Amino acid sequence: MAIQKVGVVGCGLMGSGIAQVSAAAGSQVVVCELATEVLEKGFARIEGSLRKLVSKEKLTATQCEETLARFSKTQKLEDLADCDLVIEAITENLEAKKSLFASLGGICKPEAIFASNTSSFPIEEMATASGRPERFVGLHFFNPVPLMKLVEVIRHEGVSSEVIEEARAFGKAVGKVAILAPDTPGFVVNRLLVPLLLEAVRMVERGDATVEDVDTGMTLGCGHPMGPITLLDYVGLDTTLFIVEGWHARYPDNPLFEPPAVLRSMVKDGKLGRKSGQGFYRWDGDKRA
Ligand code: CAA
Repeated sequence: MAIQKVGVVGCGLMGSGIAQVSAAAGSQVVVCELATEVLEKGFARIEGSLRKLVSKEKLTATQCEETLARFSKTQKLEDLADCDLVIEAITENLEAKKSLFASLGGICKPEAIFASNTSSFPIEEMATASGRPERFVGLHFFNPVPLMKLVEVIRHEGVSSEVIEEARAFGKAVGKVAILAPDTPGFVVNRLLVPLLLEAVRMVERGDATVEDVDTGMTLGCGHPMGPITLLDYVGLDTTLFIVEGWHARYPDNPLFEPPAVLRSMVKDGKLGRKSGQGFYRWDGDKRA
């Protein structure tokens, strides 16, 4: 594997998952997270997930310990200087991401590859801000990262084909199937998934079908592991609203990107889904109550 040392910036749900699969694949991983509480919670999540995989015999106890030993934690970007690949998974704020990549551009070795796990922003804008667009790519993972088998490799105009190949090889090394996706809203998966989730909400909003019937329809009728309303709760109503509001602002004439009123009002009321314990369903930790 050409990529031996991986930096992950941000240790929330996605960052911790990306760090976990990178370390499990044999890379040294430096996790950079400014908020101590988020860093500690992220590491508890990584440990919990690895132990769960041991209990399910998907990992041996030795592999679990070896994986944990490959991590180091930091609160300083300078500690990412010698990483071969730096993956950004901070909160979805374009200006913050651009400023992070501008700083990393001055810190990391010139041959390092930069990647963003953004689900909603154009890769090209961050690539330009980094000062090394030819070595910048989108690497979009799916939640929960340790279990979901896909990564989207997002190609923008300025990236070199060599970096695309290295990103695909990295995706394979961390146990994912990599697909090539365009630098357009939602790439491939969210471009199809988000309109589906929103249409499910609109059906419920119009009173066409109940929450339960929409979900049962798509689980039993189409074989989806979770119905769209459950999935919306699982991903987070705020996350989905944030994505679609950004697209709506950029493409106001596309009716698929129109945020449903009920989604806005639920988020305003703090009903965010799994993370707040209440969305369309009630949640008890990671399970629907
Ligand atoms: N690490 C290790 N184990 C985990 C885990 C993790 N991170 N998350 C869950 N598990 C375990 C559970 O604890 C559970 O263990 P037990 O059987 O011992 O209880 C086991 O995996 C199976 O989980 P569930 O019981 O919840 O059952 P499941 O069979 O439904 O599997 C799932 C869970 C893989 C999440 C499945 O429901 C699924 O594929 N759901 C769809 C998820 C999806 O679509 N994700 C994409 C979201 S969109 C996105 O991420 C992009 C974006 O930009 C917004």
